[in-house]
Amino acid sequence: MWDYTDKVLELFYNPKNQGVLEDTGEPGVKISTGEIGSIACGDALRLHLKVQVDTEKICDARFQTFGCTSAIASSEALVELIKGLTLDEALKVSNKQIAEYLGGLPEAKMHCSVMGQEALEAAIYNYRGIPLPTHGDDDEGGLVCTCFGISETKIRRVIRENNLITAEEVTNYVKAGGGCGSCLANIDDIITSVQKESAISVGTSLNKTNGVQSSKRLTPVQKIALIQKVLDEEVRPVLIADGGDVELYDVEGVSEGVLHVKVLLQGACGSCSSSTATLKIAIEARLRERVSHNLVVEAVNP
Ligand code: FES
Repeated sequence: MWDYTDKVLELFYNPKNQGVLEDTGEPGVKISTGEIGSIACGDALRLHLKVQVDTEKICDARFQTFGCTSAIASSEALVELIKGLTLDEALKVSNKQIAEYLGGLPEAKMHCSVMGQEALEAAIYNYRGIPLPTHGDDDEGGLVCTCFGISETKIRRVIRENNLITAEEVTNYVKAGGGCGSCLANIDDIITSVQKESAISVGTSLNKTNGVQSSKRLTPVQKIALIQKVLDEEVRPVLIADGGDVELYDVEGVSEGVLHVKVLLQGACGSCSSSTATLKIAIEARLRERVSHNLVVEAVNP
């Protein structure tokens, strides 16, 4: 049984935006549709947008989704997020925002949020008459997972946007690797390559910020201090506002490859059924962004 948040269940049981938008010839608006996934692969989403032509504002949207609880709830969340946005604003909606809107999704269901983001892009590209980027052999690095038809471009993107560090996480987000498994080694190589690229770009931006020509890395003590600072200044205020809190308990592996950050969840967070999602979204994602991509957050109960 999946551990769904109340918001996921609410949107699954009472979706308000399911259906089709037909072109009725209404002046000043245009209907556009984007489709992603396939019923054969288990999930499919068709998204219909009604766009005000002069402002490019999404004045209405509907979805038709074949899939599980998370797929339906993610589709409903997507529509609620994009109504009233311009197409340019909607293009910035990420799968992370969809998952956050839902109060989190089980890790193995994160691909539902990615499917929502992709259907939105497909509908907007369609509206603008731009062909969707292919995910075939002419793609950057070509097809990686033949079982699910997933390209290297798509895998790189989901790793970057969600700070993924394991092949298992990639499988959860885009299904690649979840079939015969023969592409898992390739996925590991892509993760390493993205991590190297991001280490270079973080180094470059740190150098720009500091105005110095240095690629100096944080020492173990500096890393722990930064974790504490991010928790105190960026994470705790959000949790406290919701009646919860978090305390740093321990950090292991500081001088090795992966940082294991152990935390005590307190207040409402400690008893909340969606505390795993809280960990992943509110704490782990933020620490990966600010401290290190190679970081895992674990809740402890001493
Ligand atoms: S090729 Fe990726 S799971 Fe089979």
